[in-house]
Amino acid sequence: AAIESGAARTERDLDAYREELEARLGKSREMMRVVMNKAQSDPKRVALAEGENEKTIRAASQLVEDGIAEPVLIGRRDHILQKTEELGLDFDPVVVNPREGEWTHYVDYLYEHRQRKGLTRTEANELIRQDSNYFASVMVEMGDADAMLTGLTNHYPSALRPPLQVIGTAENANYAAGVYMLTFRNRVVFCADTTVNLDPDEEVLAEVTKHTAELAKRFNVEPRAALLSYSDFGSVETEGVRKPRNAVNILHDDPDVDFPVDGEMQADTALVEEMLTETYEFAELDGPANVLVFPNLEAGNIGYKVLQRLGGAEAIGPMLVGMDKPVYVLQRGDEVKDIVNLASVAVVDAQE
Ligand code: ACO
Repeated sequence: AAIESGAARTERDLDAYREELEARLGKSREMMRVVMNKAQSDPKRVALAEGENEKTIRAASQLVEDGIAEPVLIGRRDHILQKTEELGLDFDPVVVNPREGEWTHYVDYLYEHRQRKGLTRTEANELIRQDSNYFASVMVEMGDADAMLTGLTNHYPSALRPPLQVIGTAENANYAAGVYMLTFRNRVVFCADTTVNLDPDEEVLAEVTKHTAELAKRFNVEPRAALLSYSDFGSVETEGVRKPRNAVNILHDDPDVDFPVDGEMQADTALVEEMLTETYEFAELDGPANVLVFPNLEAGNIGYKVLQRLGGAEAIGPMLVGMDKPVYVLQRGDEVKDIVNLASVAVVDAQE
């Protein structure tokens, strides 16, 4: 048989890679289409805390063009208008400048909300004028925006702290968490918590599982949740495995839980159907898990990034769940498409 030339092999590999990439992107687009269509049916006002950022301006322009959201860019008007022109965008941005005008009602709100947490009026005034994450959080609280997006230019904890302090968690929630949706060729998984709770106990893990399952439903995915560990249903008895195991007990006792959930289990047990059904036929899951709840932030954050970079998943997130109002904190270095994706999710969140 003729020996295949290196060039032919490379060409073949490239074709296979292109096909794989297309399939993956196709799945991701399909998932986002559900959300974007919903967003377009009733676009909401989204405050973009980093309004002077070039990527934010591009994303805002696209959001308007696609009829997904009504973006409000927070920042200096002249800077934003100049950048819009330099970028050649045919777009008339809505801008709010915290440094212009009094914003007394925003300062009052922040001061009243945080005066017993050590904040003085002078400090409240400074935060409203100088930290757009506080400004955007109060804007959402006052009903002047329906959702906020931030995080491109700050470290994640610095961007997250203002909305946690000002907006806080929903009535039925005590903890926020960051969820990534990862799409592969033929499957989708929701990973949590990837960004917020450093060392969650069983109560936190149980709550995060519920929030993540709700989020999956928003993408028309029927959730099947697995609490992950290095142990399969009691195969190891150490302190670390008790938290996910106890979280499963909490969820099994909760009458509001209407989705299958089980664990503790190893990641491959959760994801490979035969491993689950042949060895652990008693498990509640009737198929591979699509909601993966990691035992702590190290595992969650490392796990989703390994899946994304080595497993070749398309990642959408981090989507912040458990908050009282829609707040989305991007990662530094995220791209325009990430902003547009999260803004779309934020609009659907605001609609609900
Ligand atoms: N859920 C909801 N609210 C919370 C949570 C939580 N998990 N944690 C803290 N809060 C609230 C507190 O109740 C507090 O409210 P209060 O001031 O009204 O009482 C407010 O947030 C601030 O809490 P602090 O304890 O002062 O803030 P802390 O310094 O602990 O910050 C934070 C909280 C930012 C979430 C912190 O836990 C953290 O840094 N987490 C890890 C973030 C991170 O590094 N992620 C990984 C990298 S990011 C990435 O890869 C995208």
